[in-house]
Amino acid sequence: MALNYQTGFGNELASEALAGALPVGQNSPQKVPYGLYAEQLSGTAFTAPRHANRRSWLYRIRPAALHGAFTAYSQPRFHNRFDEAPTPPDQMRWSPFAWPDVPTDFVDGLFAMAGNGSAATQTGVGIHLYACNQPMEGRFFYDADGELLIVPQQGRLAIATELGALDIEPQQIALIPRGVRFRVDLPDGAARGYVCENFGAHLRLPELGPIGTNGNANARDFEAPAAAYEDVEGDFELVGKFQGNLWRAPIDHSPLDVVAWHGSNVPYRYDLRRFNTIGSISYDHPDPSIFTVLTSPSDTPGTANLDFAIFPPRWLVAEHTFRPPWFHRNIASEFMGLVHGEYDAKDANAGGGFVPGGASLHNCMSGHGPDAASHARALAADTTRPQHVVDTMAFMFETRAVIHPTRQALESPQRQRDYQQCWQGLQKHFDPSRR
Ligand SMILES: [Fe+2]
Repeated sequence: MALNYQTGFGNELASEALAGALPVGQNSPQKVPYGLYAEQLSGTAFTAPRHANRRSWLYRIRPAALHGAFTAYSQPRFHNRFDEAPTPPDQMRWSPFAWPDVPTDFVDGLFAMAGNGSAATQTGVGIHLYACNQPMEGRFFYDADGELLIVPQQGRLAIATELGALDIEPQQIALIPRGVRFRVDLPDGAARGYVCENFGAHLRLPELGPIGTNGNANARDFEAPAAAYEDVEGDFELVGKFQGNLWRAPIDHSPLDVVAWHGSNVPYRYDLRRFNTIGSISYDHPDPSIFTVLTSPSDTPGTANLDFAIFPPRWLVAEHTFRPPWFHRNIASEFMGLVHGEYDAKDANAGGGFVPGGASLHNCMSGHGPDAASHARALAADTTRPQHVVDTMAFMFETRAVIHPTRQALESPQRQRDYQQCWQGLQKHFDPSRR
């Protein structure tokens, strides 16, 4: 499948839509083949260590500098204001948001849910939902504030980027580097999902330690697009996100005009169903860090700015073990979403339910765990038999810093204000006379 994609996360890749467009032996020759312009797109400091350094060279019809002046663009739902309201320590959950009832494209369909840090300090994340029913027409977008991790929940996305086309469907993800311009078309007419805007260090594959050279997400399954260009002129608009605000500038041509590129700062897609889950084959429930797909490290070793973890179909075989996650309070903060099916620690029918398209937030030191129904099921389970968890795909954006919901998320009618009720059925079983 998808032979026009090339694989290998973080590696130097190269692609040309016209044979011979890539300069040979140097990055910026005096004259680029086919009359193209050479332009570097750096994603890390020039002097970042080689293993973390990301940059690409783009060979394009016109340089990215060619557009009109920016003016403010109002899309009041998409922002990074994480200090608008005090963050309560409550466990929080939201039902899926309503579909837009007016024509809405990907940019206008973004809704800021929560976040921490800031674009200005290049640490933290913005967590957003999107729901859209119109393709981006004559409009291109880029985010200077962060890399975008797009997690579709319903509907395919056809993402045309400067470096080529990424087509993704639910249970796949896309990674768009900071600054890369793109347009989103909707092959199914409508789409919704989740976006994590990573202000910090690039997401990368986690170290595998004793797991060895294979497992979790394998580098070869990250697919970068093939170069593809548009040589189109017209009355278009470039929308940029810069320092938390949206801006628009007129542009008289498609900025998706890169004929050839090479480098390591490129968009990717990844199919979450290819994730190789590792787990206990004896006893106990390992920490969810074993499900990390990608990590954005912080300046503190072992402590991530952002971990993206998933909970895919898998076998549970641990004996004498409470198989769902036990109750816990963590230093890290957890924003969860559900792409598909049911999450095994929550009963989909309890309260407002944790259902595909919904979200939950369990912040630093806020106690949580399986709801009463899931707890009862796990206590009664026969752990001499394996359990096949099927038909599920949940994920977590986990951050070292507290995740602050936006005011619009706190006040949203989709917020399940009775979420705590899901634990109220947990009975006292303690009896000091019976071990
Ligand atoms: Fe948790």
